[in-house]
Amino acid sequence: MYNLLKGKRGIITGALDQNSIAWKVAEKAHEEGATFVLTNAPIAMRMGEIKNLAEKTGSEIIPADATNVDELTNLFTQSQEVLGGKIDFVLHSIGMSVNIRKNIPYTESNYDYFAKGIDVSAMSFHKMLSVAKKLDAISEGGSVVALTYMAAQRTYPFYTDMADIKAMLESIARSFGYHYGKEKKVRINTVSQSPTKTTAGTGIKGFGDFFDYANAIAPLGNADAESCADYCITLFSDLTRMVTMQNLFHDGGYSTTGVSSEVLEKMGIQTQ
Ligand SMILES: NC(=O)c1ccc[n+]([C@@H]2O[C@H](COP(=O)([O-])OP(=O)(O)OC[C@H]3O[C@@H](n4cnc5c(N)ncnc54)[C@H](O)[C@@H]3O)[C@@H](O)[C@H]2O)c1
Repeated sequence: MYNLLKGKRGIITGALDQNSIAWKVAEKAHEEGATFVLTNAPIAMRMGEIKNLAEKTGSEIIPADATNVDELTNLFTQSQEVLGGKIDFVLHSIGMSVNIRKNIPYTESNYDYFAKGIDVSAMSFHKMLSVAKKLDAISEGGSVVALTYMAAQRTYPFYTDMADIKAMLESIARSFGYHYGKEKKVRINTVSQSPTKTTAGTGIKGFGDFFDYANAIAPLGNADAESCADYCITLFSDLTRMVTMQNLFHDGGYSTTGVSSEVLEKMGIQTQ
C-alpha cells in the first residue's frame, strides 16, 4: 500500500454488500490510511451487512436517506464530530430507478418513478454538495467522486431513464464543480464505470448480455469493482489535485473502441 490517504477523513455512501463498488472503495481507503464514516439509506442498514464492513474498517455508520436534506445535514455534521475535523473526500455511489426495477420500457416511463429516480440518483448529489458547502464541511482541496455510466453519452435501450439521470449527475459534477472549486478549491468528478456485477447493475434487463458485449469490445476487458475502487482512491489523493469537473472513463478502453476482432468474429466475420 502507498498511504495515499494517510490522515484523510471521508464519507462513503452506497456500500450495500460485498459486491458494491462502495464496499471495495471502503476497503481500499482503509488500506490507504483514511478514516471515514459509512452511510446508506436506513432501509439498506436493516439488511445488516454494512456492520461487517464497519467493523473491518473501524468505521462508524451514520444512516441517511440521500434524498433528505435534514438527514444529509446530520450526516455531514456528525461525520465531522466523529472524525475530528473537516471531510477530505466523499464518494457518491447511489443509484436506483423504479422504472428499471419494474421493467417499464423507456418510451412508457412512469413519471412518478422517473422523478424518484432523479431524486435518488442525481439530485441527491446536488443536495449532498449543497449541504456540505453550507456547513463548510469539506476541506480545501477536498475531492468528491460520483459513479456514473456511459449511457449518459450513448444510447443503451435497456438503461431507460437512468441514462437521462446519469447525464444530469455528470452535469451537476461540472456545474457544482465550478462554484465549489472557485470558492473552496473542492474538486468534483464522475467516474464512468464498466458494467459491474452488483445489486444495482444486475437489476438491469439484459445486464449479462451487455456485460459480455462490453467485455468483448474493451481491449483490457471490463474494469471490475476493485479496480474502480483503486481509481477512486487516486482521485481522493493529492496526486490528482488539479483534476476537477471531469467525467472520467474507467472501462478498459471500451468508450473509445469502435469494434473489436472478438465481436466481428462472433458475427462470423474473419479478421485475419
Ligand atoms: N454496477 C454497474 O454496472 C455500474 C456501472 C456504472 C456505474 N454504476 C453506479 O455505481 C453506483 C453504485 O452502484 P453499485 O453498482 O455498487 O450497486 P449497489 O446496489 O451495491 O449500490 C447502490 C447503492 O445505492 C444505495 N441507495 C439507494 N437509494 C438510496 C437512498 N435513497 N439514499 C442513500 N442510498 C441509497 C443502495 O442502498 C445501495 O447501497 C451507482 O451510482 C451505479 O449507478 C454501476
